[in-house]
Amino acid sequence: MLDLLLRGARLPGESETREIGIKEGLISELEPDAQQTIDLGGALVTPALVEPHIHLDAVLTVGEPRHNQTGSLFEGIAIWAERVRTLTVEDVKQRVRTVLRWQLANGVQFVRSHVDVCDPELKAVRALVELREEIGDQVHLQLVAFPQQGIMSFDGGQDLMRKAVDLGVDVVGAIPHFELTREYGVDSVKFAFALASNKGLRVDIHCDETDDDHSRFIETMAAETIRLGMGGRVTASHTTAMHSYNNAYAYRLINNLKRAQMHMVTNPLDNSTLQGRFDSYPIRRGHTRVKELLSAGINVCIGHDSVMDPWYPLGYGDPMQSAFVLAHYGQMSGHSELRTLMDMITWNGASALGLEKYGLLPGCRADLCAFDAPTEMDAIRLIAPRKLVLRGGKIVARTEPARTTVTWDGREEMVDFLNPPRNQLRDP
Ligand code: FE2
Repeated sequence: MLDLLLRGARLPGESETREIGIKEGLISELEPDAQQTIDLGGALVTPALVEPHIHLDAVLTVGEPRHNQTGSLFEGIAIWAERVRTLTVEDVKQRVRTVLRWQLANGVQFVRSHVDVCDPELKAVRALVELREEIGDQVHLQLVAFPQQGIMSFDGGQDLMRKAVDLGVDVVGAIPHFELTREYGVDSVKFAFALASNKGLRVDIHCDETDDDHSRFIETMAAETIRLGMGGRVTASHTTAMHSYNNAYAYRLINNLKRAQMHMVTNPLDNSTLQGRFDSYPIRRGHTRVKELLSAGINVCIGHDSVMDPWYPLGYGDPMQSAFVLAHYGQMSGHSELRTLMDMITWNGASALGLEKYGLLPGCRADLCAFDAPTEMDAIRLIAPRKLVLRGGKIVARTEPARTTVTWDGREEMVDFLNPPRNQLRDP
């Protein structure tokens, strides 16, 4: 007998609804009986959303000690340097506990967080490592040692990276474009790969997050990935300089990224506001080449990056907002591209994080997300509420959709944003 039967679930890319059986926390083959049945009424059901790139240690610090008036990356870095002085373990944990709850409510159950290690006491790393233990299996949390001020250019940077690894981070980061020289940048990438490879960890580097077309550390990442045989375990995040590379160089690079089997993370919320700041008109979008990377068969996922911090004052941890912005900013409003956006916040992120038993097939963990919308297009259009979130087959979040009325011709009537009703879902 099944523990739970979900009726009326519409899976991505399918027009008919189907039933999903759940047994012992896993998706199961269907059986005749179930202890409990829930009718989802045609809701789009995806696997749990994946957040592959967020800076949890900085969340909810917007306005502390002051607001970023220009909205620039550099004013953000200056404000963060002031805020870091008052950081405590409990301060970090309290803010992160809040955002993890927001993420779960949004259907996010797998999170990779970068954590700043440029602090001799490593307070943020200690806080996040403790919190990862505290939350258990409620949310899967991966931590990246992230050297905000650089590895080679920050006093004791290499030691702090090693200590963060000893404290138990899962992934090794770097920020080569921020190092004092190009040579330091290359050295920092090689340092990160050596550390990760020695400890059996993955790599996720903030790489070329600048509009400078001379910033080309990603080629060193590809070379190190190939040399060390780390294909599938390496992610390059941001890579906004790729927007400005000449096409001949980009062509060669993208071929090498494919050969290296690297994962890419694009962060449309932060980078749509931060890039192009040194341009007069025309202002470059400064965004990595998502469509070219995807069409080359490279795994690209979408990250949120910031939630209410000195760099980005908005957001509530919902990957659907990031996908919505990428639909515009990355010109991905084509019908099948909207579906691809959903893949980029689910399966693609799962692949970058190396998740197992992820998906909708029998044997996968029953970590699911049901939208208050029938199709991928409607889910993105409305940034539709997650009406039900299941983890291991148990309901862990639910949202009652808002009820809206208008008064028209003197009569109050319901508004349904899913209207006009469609008789059938043509090629949903
Ligand atoms: Fe980032």
